[in-house]
Amino acid sequence: LYNIGILGFGTVGSGVVELILKNNGNIEKKGGLTLNIKKILVKDKVKKRPEYIKELITYKPEDIIYDPEIDLVVEVMGGEEPALTYIRQALKNKKHVVTANKEVISKHGRELLELALQNKVNLLFEASVAGGIPIIIPLKESLIANEFGNIMAILNGTTNFILTQMEENKVEFSQALEMAKKQGYAESDPSADILGLDAARKIAILASIAFNVRITPDKVYTEGINGISYTDINYAQELGFTIRLIAEAQRTKDGIFVLVAPVLLRKEHPLSAVKDVYNAVIVEGDAVGRLMFYGKGAGKMPTASAVVSDIIKALKTDEKNRLNCTCFRDERVLPIELFRSAYYFRIKAMDKPGVLSKISGIFGKNDINLYMVIQKNSINNIAEIVVITYETTFKNIQKAVDEINSLDDIAEVSNVIRVKEEV
Ligand code: HSE
Repeated sequence: LYNIGILGFGTVGSGVVELILKNNGNIEKKGGLTLNIKKILVKDKVKKRPEYIKELITYKPEDIIYDPEIDLVVEVMGGEEPALTYIRQALKNKKHVVTANKEVISKHGRELLELALQNKVNLLFEASVAGGIPIIIPLKESLIANEFGNIMAILNGTTNFILTQMEENKVEFSQALEMAKKQGYAESDPSADILGLDAARKIAILASIAFNVRITPDKVYTEGINGISYTDINYAQELGFTIRLIAEAQRTKDGIFVLVAPVLLRKEHPLSAVKDVYNAVIVEGDAVGRLMFYGKGAGKMPTASAVVSDIIKALKTDEKNRLNCTCFRDERVLPIELFRSAYYFRIKAMDKPGVLSKISGIFGKNDINLYMVIQKNSINNIAEIVVITYETTFKNIQKAVDEINSLDDIAEVSNVIRVKEEV
């Protein structure tokens, strides 16, 4: 019998308790151990909670972190502090820790894994990336024989829900965001999701594990979906593309690119089929080839599935099998200016002779080859021009945007989005 203390009883915490109570009998048969929830830390003293947890509740973190009878601490509070401090203390007190906290792991993973090693305990965090999808343990164990050069993923359910709502219901971003809030997907402050920060934390964790290089979120070039309008989605659709917020990491001979940004993906691309709050991760191993993991990246029970599985694994894993930090390489993250991709531009320009030639002159001067140029409807003498380029560096793109925008009132770039032609 193992005693567990849980820090936090929000969506994930309550899911963890429900899942343990529901499946403990079979966990015992399959895993050979019995879990006993000893204490649950909550913050709010007045909130109504289920009867069956009443005697387990505590308001003092020390009751869990310093309880000698507790074998394992589950951290599902979220946020950087005080979660980080509690995890440190729990590890120092020789308790295994299971966490769903992508912010803490992406920023402090190295330190915490070292602390776990020193104290001879396990620190597992499967739920921190892509909720219910098993991806961290598969990368570290089932696929250990491979070298990985590429990860491409949808790691944020809220933004994927918003983009697919815009696509399917032909609505603007703000309306789709309202729908996400109504369905309980978007948090009251959805900025970490919308601005791409949540996905940046998750790709930092995945890239660190897949490439064996420590990558922190501040190294991830990050764009959100707040600048995407229905017009972009509509044009993308006409041209045979969807728009998805893609987290990507590439290992090249010079270093690593790691970024989160919206991408126009061919409708035939497997990530175009990922809709609503679903997540998906595509990894490419040198031996196994392309693999795709698909499932629910958020929500109470999918996240609880990852947490409870980690609890069992942490309690069953001895010193010899411990999963330590695997970031043994020291490779640099390359500046995004060097990143090569094709791009979609939406430009508003005066509908008069010579304007298009000025714009195409700017592309030419910056070594950008145009793949497709379409003039869309012209209203009040303002035409909308949609351009798709061949592959070029981000530096060239930035220079071209600045130069087009400084063309005295005759043209303005409304949006620039990456394009991925390959499926
Ligand atoms: N807010 C995240 C999402 C779930 O929308 O995917 C928690 O990581």
